[in-house]
Amino acid sequence: MVSRVIPVDSFDLVIFGATGDLARRKILPALCQRFAEGQMPPEARVIGAARGDMSRAEFQALISDAFDEFMGDSAPDAETRASFIEMLDYVPIDAASDQGWAELATRLRPDVVRAFYFSVGPSLFGSLATQLGKFGMISDETRIVVEKPFGHDLETARALNKTLAAHFDERQIYRIDHYLGKETVQNLMAVRFANVLFEPLWNARFVDHVQITVAESVGVGGRGPYYDKSGAMRDMVQNHLMQLLCLIAMEPPYCFEPDAVRDEKLKVINALDRVLPTDIVRGQYLAGADSASYLTEVESPESLTESYVALKVGISNWRWKGTPFYLRTGKKLRSRTSEIAVTFRDPPHSIFGETVPWRTNVLVIRLQPDEGMTLRVMIKEPGPGGMRLKDVALDMSFADALGDDMHIPDAYERLIMDVMRGNQTLFMRGDEVEAAWAWTDPIIAEWQKSADKPKPYDPGSSGPEDALMLLHRDDRRWREFR
Ligand code: BG6
Repeated sequence: MVSRVIPVDSFDLVIFGATGDLARRKILPALCQRFAEGQMPPEARVIGAARGDMSRAEFQALISDAFDEFMGDSAPDAETRASFIEMLDYVPIDAASDQGWAELATRLRPDVVRAFYFSVGPSLFGSLATQLGKFGMISDETRIVVEKPFGHDLETARALNKTLAAHFDERQIYRIDHYLGKETVQNLMAVRFANVLFEPLWNARFVDHVQITVAESVGVGGRGPYYDKSGAMRDMVQNHLMQLLCLIAMEPPYCFEPDAVRDEKLKVINALDRVLPTDIVRGQYLAGADSASYLTEVESPESLTESYVALKVGISNWRWKGTPFYLRTGKKLRSRTSEIAVTFRDPPHSIFGETVPWRTNVLVIRLQPDEGMTLRVMIKEPGPGGMRLKDVALDMSFADALGDDMHIPDAYERLIMDVMRGNQTLFMRGDEVEAAWAWTDPIIAEWQKSADKPKPYDPGSSGPEDALMLLHRDDRRWREFR
């Protein structure tokens, strides 16, 4: 199956931090893919901007190397790649001084969409915005793209929002949470709101509980110093898992427009209960046979930062009161598995006696890998011997259903094109980010007060033992990792 491509209008995109990891690993490969698919117009301009004093040709060579390193089998053919690289321009720039800014201004066209991608630490957002204003580069058609971490807590997130608001309208600010750009995450909305089947059952009366798992097999690697200041709660729960929870729990928006969707997500975040310390388990991975422990990797033997967290979250609204949402995420776990499992309640009365297994109907939405959906249902076991029941899976892999040659775009491909189209639906609004921090902050403050050590867990396991208890004591069980 060939994906349908709707070309976007011509644009000028400036990437600040263009020689950095994110630009080389994600942003530029994503643009190259969209170019290869014919979505990015050939007259579009992509201008790298960074502190390094290099020529346009040197920048192009750097990106060509990055494509070799990061694009793998998905890279377009050599000719397309070369045409894309040929389009790239470069301007050395210093955020803290006037150096390079006048030059950058001369490279921009007045009559096309203009976007600035802030692929730099948040401490530079203010200077970049000020310089853009000073050199007359901000117009009504200007958009900026900013990455997480969007703040470290509520206070810093507010300060960042304030800094950006001094130069840009909210409709010009695109805050990326790359989980929202994943095809399968968008599928959550399609499953819920393009089918009549699930919605009548999508509430506390029929749903026993929901499990959201984002497990990674990799450790913190070279990001130790950043990660250790952050931990799983700030790095994953406050943003990615929160977004997944919102898409599962929100009311149907009245239309698929940015503010209609974001208003509903915000209501979910505001309705989240404060999480009790007894409903949270934090963990830190130990050393394995040939891998270092978390403490060694972050080079901080006393660190109390968690590389794993599991928590039970309640939502106080009419739809969800009484249905717990269990969230877990961690590094160095058995496999890379992200999924959402909605477990339905038992039938109110069994006409088959006691033989019906317990909570059988489960809808699993697999986000990665092997994207797809499974619905477990009861059927009769074939053959004589009375009415013996068995639960089986209605299993669908999206690759099988849509065709193996279907290119599933990387999240950044979709998100960057949405910036150019001016569609903010899959981007976080400022109030959403602040509400998520307002919920997260007291949880982290509690840990800091108690100074409790995270529970150790083995690399390649499913996390600390105590996380099992979080569900056992509620007479429930985590799903096994694949
Ligand atoms: C990032 C986190 O936002 O998401 C990383 O900072 C994490 O720690 C990554 O590894 C996971 O993203 P994905 O797309 O690989 O699931």
